[in-house]
Amino acid sequence: MKGNLASRFGQRFFWPFSWRWLSRASAFQRRMLLALAVCLSIILFGAIAYSQQPITLTLLMPALDVQAGRSMADQFEASNPGIKLEIVEGPNASNLVEDLYTSSFLLGDTPYDLVLMDVVWLPKFAAAGWLLDITDRVPADQLTAFLPADLEGGRYQNRLYRLPMRSDSGLLYYRQDLLAKAGLQPPTTFDDLINISKTLQERGDVRWGYVWQGRQYEGLAAMFTEVLAGFGGFWVKPDTLEVGLDRPEAIQAVNFLRRTVQEGVSPPGVTTYQEEEARRLFQSGDVAFMRSWPYAYPLGSAEGSPIKGLFSFKPMVHAPGFDSAGCLGGWGLGIAKTSRYPDAALKVVQYFASPEGQRFTILENGYLPTRPSLYTDPLIVAKYSYFPQMQTVAEKAVLRPPVAQYAQVSDILQRYLSAALTDRTPVADAMRNAAQETRRLLDTNES
Ligand code: GLC
Repeated sequence: MKGNLASRFGQRFFWPFSWRWLSRASAFQRRMLLALAVCLSIILFGAIAYSQQPITLTLLMPALDVQAGRSMADQFEASNPGIKLEIVEGPNASNLVEDLYTSSFLLGDTPYDLVLMDVVWLPKFAAAGWLLDITDRVPADQLTAFLPADLEGGRYQNRLYRLPMRSDSGLLYYRQDLLAKAGLQPPTTFDDLINISKTLQERGDVRWGYVWQGRQYEGLAAMFTEVLAGFGGFWVKPDTLEVGLDRPEAIQAVNFLRRTVQEGVSPPGVTTYQEEEARRLFQSGDVAFMRSWPYAYPLGSAEGSPIKGLFSFKPMVHAPGFDSAGCLGGWGLGIAKTSRYPDAALKVVQYFASPEGQRFTILENGYLPTRPSLYTDPLIVAKYSYFPQMQTVAEKAVLRPPVAQYAQVSDILQRYLSAALTDRTPVADAMRNAAQETRRLLDTNES
């Protein structure tokens, strides 16, 4: 009885369209039924088609890297047809790209699945909880193939949040041809750099001696880190958080940079230059020396470049009794914690950091690898014979302070340094204020 009731109930409410019902149904009821069936099929096929749509992952990149990033993305998509990469073009300056990522995270609901990070942003992004912890998603034996300093740039409190895809190191570029013609050796000290510049300028070989990044932005902080280290100074000691910006070495470092402008070795406009302004001027052929990153080498050697085959590079100069230092730069990919597609995003991260991915982008634009094996890779060395030498230079790395408050620490230095370089504040005052403000910031955040 019970069973009967249940089956009649089921028939009536869950399967009302029996053959008997169909045969008795009115034309209107049949049409309604047909319409219902069509709607259900559309929904079903739509859902199947939707589930087979490629996943689109979005990331923001500095404008200068977009072309290389797009070629790499095309390579990745060709072997991963289910995943598309949408690259949003940001500004060039690293700190401005960081601001855009930061505001997208602060506003919530960031559109970015992947986070392309400069080595100096990671502590802040990880501490803020914006990144997916990938420690357990990347096998530990994969990590041994990276250069330790580049890998370390992806760690925060012993957890991994980023794989390094590109390294960077500050270099001193010089015009080999002009030095040879004047019978001079490349400079080793800061004074040499100024004196040789003046000699070449006086000979009428070049208009300017030395170009560097003097604008108030992250590139200024990176460049200053290596001049400071070359005078034996330091910015912030990572273990003790001791601040060295008002010490005599820091004052000497600022004075050296000011001298380059005061003595006419650097153009007055150098205090507004980013990497590209300096590179364009050096590449025009009218400058003897330039501080820049490895990306400038292939551009200077390209067909049509006035300095093609005429320049070389070496580690940054230093004060007598000290050693050269090149600021460690570099970029890597992490995953936004809010991404709906962490597995697909991890594939991208791994491809961009893989030997194939890196080889591809290096061959396109000469960036430095984060894997030691690629510095002597036959394909790469066949195109860039200078690569093994790059590795030696890159080993003299000096780090910017790896602290979670880095963005503010850097902003303080940029402001006061720029004021001193443009004669708005006496050097000693500027550096004392920079040091005090940094100490206040780090103490406040420490307590
Ligand atoms: C390069 C470096 C990066 C640095 C930036 C400064 O992109 O790789 O680490 O912060 O230059 O302009």
